Amino acid sequence: MTRLRKVVFPVAGLGTRFLPATKVVAKEMLPVLDRPLIQYAVDEAVDAGADTLVFVTNRYKHSIADYFDSAYELEETLERAGKHELLAMVLGLLPPHVRCVYVTQEQALGLGHAVLCAKPVIGDEPFGIILPDDLIVNDGPGALRQMAQRAADGKTGVLAVEEVPRSDTGKYGIVDLEAGGDRIRHMVEKPKPEDAPSNLGVVGRYVLPARIFDLLESTTPGAGGEIQLTDAIAALLRETSVLAHRFAGRRFDCGNKAGMVRATLYFAAADPELRHLVEGASGST
Ligand code: UTP
Repeated sequence: MTRLRKVVFPVAGLGTRFLPATKVVAKEMLPVLDRPLIQYAVDEAVDAGADTLVFVTNRYKHSIADYFDSAYELEETLERAGKHELLAMVLGLLPPHVRCVYVTQEQALGLGHAVLCAKPVIGDEPFGIILPDDLIVNDGPGALRQMAQRAADGKTGVLAVEEVPRSDTGKYGIVDLEAGGDRIRHMVEKPKPEDAPSNLGVVGRYVLPARIFDLLESTTPGAGGEIQLTDAIAALLRETSVLAHRFAGRRFDCGNKAGMVRATLYFAAADPELRHLVEGASGST
């Protein structure tokens, strides 16, 4: 398998659905229990083999860099207090061989534009993209690792897809597959249920060849005046095979409040100290 060395985290969006919190707290720093969303995303990238994490941020999101940086005062205090477990946790957010690169997206011109900002760091190799507000948990290999295994030739693109309710097709890119296979024939951005070619929606994981950058450069602003990743992928489909991957695992859309609550309840139910709260909650409505 070609190792997926580099993973891009586009985190320069405004996060309007979590205002007022996101006026000062980056959406990716909102916690599910005690871990911020970005930590779950980074763990998945490392599981897929990544050693270079590229964060596309904006000028308000220093907290993400601060989070992965050393915190000498805190570390020293924990050391002096003999809080070794906490110290190990703080020091172990990233394995030592993994480095972080931060790239600024000057203006929020869309997801496609954010990905294009990572071009100088990625160079000419296939790479992964994780949108941290789609939190995916799996007992076995993470979703991105599953996808990297399917992109072993370095040219094939792979998009994570999930069956979505027909009534929700307007919230997703919807794929149309070749008969009897996983190869994507075409993709429609946010179609009405009656126009949707299937009920398979693209979610926040991609493995793409570097060719996508050329295609993004020639992509004109689409829906909402933004440079859409979907439009560049539509052009890629005409050149190379792009597969839809129905990932093993469970996804929580933590870009909205309901998904965030569901994810919190899920992790609480798995925590021996919190489980009783969830059982209490489910009996009470
Ligand atoms: P969303 O559509 O979820 O937008 O972006 P958002 O700003 O994060 O949140 P809402 O909808 O206002 O609540 C999808 C992903 O693309 C990134 C976001 O950070 C998120 O990870 N993005 C979007 C950028 O990095 N730059 C952009 O210009 C737009």
